[in-house]
Amino acid sequence: VFPDAAAAVRSAAERIARIVAESVAARGKAVLGLATGATPEKVYDDLAARVRAGTLSFRDVTTYNLDEYYPIQPVDPRSYRSYMQRFLFDRVDLAPNRAHVLDGTVPEAATAAHAAEFDRWIDADGGLDLQLLGIGRNGHIGFNEPSELAVEAFASQPTRVVGLHPITKTDAIREFGSLEAVIPRALTMGVRQILAARTILMLATGPHKAPIVARALKGPLTANVPASLLRTVADKVVWLVDEPAAAELG
Ligand code: F6R
Repeated sequence: VFPDAAAAVRSAAERIARIVAESVAARGKAVLGLATGATPEKVYDDLAARVRAGTLSFRDVTTYNLDEYYPIQPVDPRSYRSYMQRFLFDRVDLAPNRAHVLDGTVPEAATAAHAAEFDRWIDADGGLDLQLLGIGRNGHIGFNEPSELAVEAFASQPTRVVGLHPITKTDAIREFGSLEAVIPRALTMGVRQILAARTILMLATGPHKAPIVARALKGPLTANVPASLLRTVADKVVWLVDEPAAAELG
């Protein structure tokens, strides 16, 4: 728990930079799972500053993003592809062909094959060294929304097309301007791939995250609170939380 969001962000960036260095030293590359949203924006600012200062390089890094709206054009400023270009990819020395974001333009009939290919690419890359996560106010990770599935079934969900939960759509008004304009579906990395990452960093800041942080860490282990499944792999999960987001942890 950090006194403020800036300190939590700095710790996230430090840990990411360290994992990049360690993975590159150990196996010649680092494979990062990345998140979008408001929470990690300043993490990417920090990483870009490290690259400018010459203390971090993405030369040997491959990235896979958690999710993308579906359907959406990559050039659409609301797409997660354009978010990533803006906040990270255009500011660091990452090879464009190693920056993977699920493709919001694949034809409907090809989404399952595209999603399966995304999982195969990550597996072929040796899995994720690190997955950076944020938490939705409904507990979602990626766009794995609250579910009635048993924990085991939910934990093995692959990358796929999903419908967005009402709370997620409400929160997306920030990006889309109105509820009617929110694209109601998305492609998301599945829980299986997220939980398989060798390190998971969960960054949660702000008082609006306090109730769900407490439910995820202290409430029942259930697919109805997707982030509670992080407790099944607790030894490799680090929660980076500011005091306002930790307020209901007791
Ligand atoms: C984003 C993602 C989402 C967000 C979550 C929190 O790629 O997968 O799960 O991490 O919705 O979003 P913010 O940071 O905007 O509160």
